Amino acid sequence: MPDVLEGPVDLNRWPIDDLDGDAGRRMIESCRADLASLGCCNLRGFLTDAGTAALMAEADALLEHAYWKNGRRNAYFTEDDPSLPADDPRRMSFPIVMGQVAGDLIPPASRLRRLYEHPAKVEFTRRTLGLAALYPRADRFQDLNLIVLPDGGVQLWHYDQNHFSVTLLLQAATQCGDFEFVPALRSKHGEDLEAVRRLFRGKHPGVVRPEREAGTLTLFRGENAMHRVSPVCGDKARVTAILSYDEAPGLWAPDEVNAMIYGPRVREPRAVGSPI
Ligand SMILES: [Fe+2]
Repeated sequence: MPDVLEGPVDLNRWPIDDLDGDAGRRMIESCRADLASLGCCNLRGFLTDAGTAALMAEADALLEHAYWKNGRRNAYFTEDDPSLPADDPRRMSFPIVMGQVAGDLIPPASRLRRLYEHPAKVEFTRRTLGLAALYPRADRFQDLNLIVLPDGGVQLWHYDQNHFSVTLLLQAATQCGDFEFVPALRSKHGEDLEAVRRLFRGKHPGVVRPEREAGTLTLFRGENAMHRVSPVCGDKARVTAILSYDEAPGLWAPDEVNAMIYGPRVREPRAVGSPI
């Protein structure tokens, strides 16, 4: 089986297979600087055109297994709290219309999974984020996911549970469907609720919309950067791979958490591990 980096990834532009070489070191430095100054590192053309087409073909064959969410939620995925003021951003709800394919449905031999697990890909991510260690997530549902947003699809404003997020855009929508975020909207010291309220009213001046097209890899700090995908329009669905890594091995999520994300089918016996 040929190495998965040969073909899909544009190694001339993004030499993740030679991180100790001059070009590899410059790439890491540049990504780290972008993360610090812009809140995200955006690798446009990470995949070649042929690589994008090949990985999208794999994804396309899996989308029929997506678990669909279609409703309204607040940005914190919590129940409404009537004790809070009516205009509190935690009480504002937004539409969510999206399909999600769990990791256990993405085959071990697929290029998508082999790229996600490839040591060079993991090491590139580790060095860019400046972490002591990094592992593909052990949870077989959460490790590698696909998100599909068809015409009318929307991923509402939210924070991620992960300290950081890695996404690979496989197919851009015909129109709209922009990835938007506000860097460092909250910190370990708390959250500026007035700034969140401005954001929800469309009046926050700090919204970042990185230029992305199919084949772009993006790293950002989704734990503190509120983010969303604006409503998709047009006849081409937006398809993204979500690559989750952890700083410790053997982490998995409780069944009830995964059941909310992937549907009731995930409630089954588990391997031994530690809760995330
Ligand atoms: Fe997210």
